[in-house]
Amino acid sequence: MHKSKITGLGFEVPENVVKNADLEEIMETSDEWIQTRSGIKERRWATEDLATSDLAISASKKAMEMAGVSSEDIDLVIVGTLSSDYFFPGVSAQLQDKLNLRNIAAFDIKAACSAFVYCLSVGDQFIRSGMAKTALIVGAETQTKLIDKTTRGRDIAVLFGDGAGAAIIQTSDDDSGILSTHLHCQGKDMKNLWMEGPGSAPGVWIHNKQAIAHGRLSPKMNGREVFRNAVKRFPEVIQEAMDENGLTMEDIKLIIPHQANNRISQAVAKRMGIGMDRLYSNIHKYGNTTAASIPIALTEAHQEGKIQKGDHIILAAFGAGYTWASAAIRW
Ligand code: UT7
Repeated sequence: MHKSKITGLGFEVPENVVKNADLEEIMETSDEWIQTRSGIKERRWATEDLATSDLAISASKKAMEMAGVSSEDIDLVIVGTLSSDYFFPGVSAQLQDKLNLRNIAAFDIKAACSAFVYCLSVGDQFIRSGMAKTALIVGAETQTKLIDKTTRGRDIAVLFGDGAGAAIIQTSDDDSGILSTHLHCQGKDMKNLWMEGPGSAPGVWIHNKQAIAHGRLSPKMNGREVFRNAVKRFPEVIQEAMDENGLTMEDIKLIIPHQANNRISQAVAKRMGIGMDRLYSNIHKYGNTTAASIPIALTEAHQEGKIQKGDHIILAAFGAGYTWASAAIRW
């Protein structure tokens, strides 16, 4: 079995920059509260005319260019998103069409902030089994269209941003590549971070004015509980990735965590006895972009020269579900 390796990366974010001071204008919050609680200075919010697929297409083209692959080469598309353009089908179908791909397998995975690592894991299994040779793996969101941008929704509104990141993975012909992936879920806590509608559960009324008035069509979060679980699960799943491959923290050049909150990363660094320089961070610029955060961070870290051939890196995610996941990679 041949493992897969990342051969191309790209990302895209909306042009519309929303600074903390802009949020002060539309809800009761402050730059000081946001920065001290999360480390976020600004984020990008998609304007009405921009959809998740637009960002995904642009990020995908950049990743394809870096990998030097054409539309003909791609034989699998997996997209992680909770803010697809339409309720169904998924963004993957739009990518198949807009990128002029063959009639290959294309599907979405809804695993919130862990979705990119979930997608990467599934793509890696396809390549290891010989089912695919060149896969396009994307995390993309315009989730801020869904959020309550009033004081009522401020705990969520100030944290989240939009964007997309993409990776091309291909059969590896050397010892570099995705060494292992680790996926988890604990559904009993799902209501600590969720969006109820539109959905099929009894009492969840689709496109119902009453539901909108009660905020049931916007995400809801129990921030403290999510925080508490995140600082437990991130170190666990990072350790799992190291143990599986006989690696210690000294072997790890960089951890690319899901960009949820800088304080979460600080707590993770403290628990793992490492400096913050070992955990990549760009949350100050983009906020929490859910499924897009890891591929955006990975692309920027790579562009900044922080990942070199032979380096061991770990991708680590935690989010709604709860889901959490990691991937150990030798670059
Ligand atoms: O990808 C995973 C997704 N989510 C996360 O990772 C989020 C995890 N949780 C967190 O990051 C943090 O819990 C938050 C940043 C959401 C909140 O930080 P906190 O230190 O846990 O604050 P808190 O929940 O204890 O709230 C403190 C106060 C509350 O007021 P009272 O009840 O003390 O009077 C909130 O109402 O801050 C208030 N508050 C705000 N104030 C100004 C909540 N949101 C805001 C806001 N601006 N945007």
